[in-house]
Amino acid sequence: MLSESMLARLNTQINLEFYSSNLYLQMSAWADNHGFEGSAAFLRAHAAEEMEHMQKLFDYVLETGGMPVLGTIEAPKVEYEGLREIFEETLAHEKHITAAINDLVATAFESKDFSTFNFLQWYVAEQHEEENLFSSVLDKLNLLGDSPKHLFFFDREVGKISHDEAEDTP
Ligand SMILES: [Fe+2]
Ligand SMILES: [Fe+2]
Repeated sequence: MLSESMLARLNTQINLEFYSSNLYLQMSAWADNHGFEGSAAFLRAHAAEEMEHMQKLFDYVLETGGMPVLGTIEAPKVEYEGLREIFEETLAHEKHITAAINDLVATAFESKDFSTFNFLQWYVAEQHEEENLFSSVLDKLNLLGDSPKHLFFFDREVGKISHDEAEDTP
């Protein structure tokens, strides 16, 4: 049984995962419109992953007898300067999500809600992976540089990541 305050916190996180999904899906549209098909595929695949994060939380709230509540989700921005801005923002966003998860974990622990504490460990591990993934993408961009020719190769490399990840999924 979830406390009222834990339920409210988990619902906030559900809405945050929705926002993450919308943010990456919107970014993928920008990338596609600007001819960066690899980045578009990567971001789109990631948008789908964020929906899975949302659903996992949604199910947990239901299983513990709570009511998941979908609130108003902030609209992500539409225009970007370029791929650098997008990938800098994705990493910053993942760091923001990690901080939110860490806060949730701390609250669960302090309130002795060990079921939620245990459930959230999956998100701790997932955030570690996601920060690692997004920072490796940004490293690639920093290595290659921002000239149109290098962006072409960068985009192709990023497209390969989403292809490799899709093959890893059973
Ligand atoms: Fe997420
Ligand atoms: Fe994420």
